[in-house]
Amino acid sequence: MSTSDASVRLDLTRRGRRLRRSPAIRSIVRETRLSPENFIYPLFVCEGSGVRREVGSMPGVYNLSVDEAVKEAVAARADGVPGVLLFGLPAYKDEIGSSAYDAEAPVQAATRAIKEADAGILVVTDVCLCEYTSHGHCGLVVDGEIRNDESVELLVKTAVSHAEAGADIVAPSDMMDGRVGAIRHALDDRGFEQVAIMSYAAKYCSAFYGPFRDAADSAPKFGDRRTHQMDPANVEEALREVAEDIEEGADIVMVKPALPYLDVITRVKAEFGFPTAAYNVSGEYSMLKAAAERGWIDGPRAMMEALTGIRRAGADIIITYFAREAARLLR
Ligand code: PBG
Repeated sequence: MSTSDASVRLDLTRRGRRLRRSPAIRSIVRETRLSPENFIYPLFVCEGSGVRREVGSMPGVYNLSVDEAVKEAVAARADGVPGVLLFGLPAYKDEIGSSAYDAEAPVQAATRAIKEADAGILVVTDVCLCEYTSHGHCGLVVDGEIRNDESVELLVKTAVSHAEAGADIVAPSDMMDGRVGAIRHALDDRGFEQVAIMSYAAKYCSAFYGPFRDAADSAPKFGDRRTHQMDPANVEEALREVAEDIEEGADIVMVKPALPYLDVITRVKAEFGFPTAAYNVSGEYSMLKAAAERGWIDGPRAMMEALTGIRRAGADIIITYFAREAARLLR
């Protein structure tokens, strides 16, 4: 067929391509903007000094001793990332997760050190027991069952110890019932009414946490997390979880993971209008890294597309291991 064949008659008053012709025109009609200010950068803090040990399943992510964690947080701030989320690899683990509320443990020590650096870095701490218990569960186990109310007591102690170390925001990730309210009361009773709570409100029982459990050495030694983390099939339940956490005093609510749950992010943001965070978890990170390493996808482009999608879905805050890499591309 000839290209000058006039048998096809197009009558176009609308031409979408007019607004896609150049970088400048695409830029003035762009609906979603990513900024380093949207990111929170997770760090895994371990014992010792001068330690910078790459996590096997997470290229570019390290276990860092306190001194190195401070350097990494300061560098992230220089890249434009406002805050870090701290996880701990403690020196010891026991049945009751004592190292979670030990004032000298890595998260507490790193919190103090980052705050002392006085670089305007927001410190968010992960409040959970799974990195600190010998059995790897997020709470207290009695007769093979993860007990809710007793676990909340330990989570409260953990959150208070983070606040005492200087945390700006505590982030309970355990999914025990009632922990947000209990933490709020305990913080207020001790004069920490200015410490905010970012609750992992809709946290799903996900296969995408695999590499994290390698990074934080927190895989459960028996069983799984299905009795407290949410069923991936549910979204109405996510809205109830978020509503309860807001009722109990959560300042920021989180959906986790991010990419398989974009609809949940959209609904949470639309229905509550609260500051909404999405956790672009370890598996989401490692999949892109692994595919890019094999040359199967363009790593930086896939990273930006994924992060933009999370923002477009409605997340105000993205917790991501890509924070520094993406921030540097955005400047
Ligand atoms: C602790 C916690 C987990 C993650 C954040 N906090 C692991 C889990 O629930 O097993 C996962 C983060 C990630 O995969 O990047 N409960």
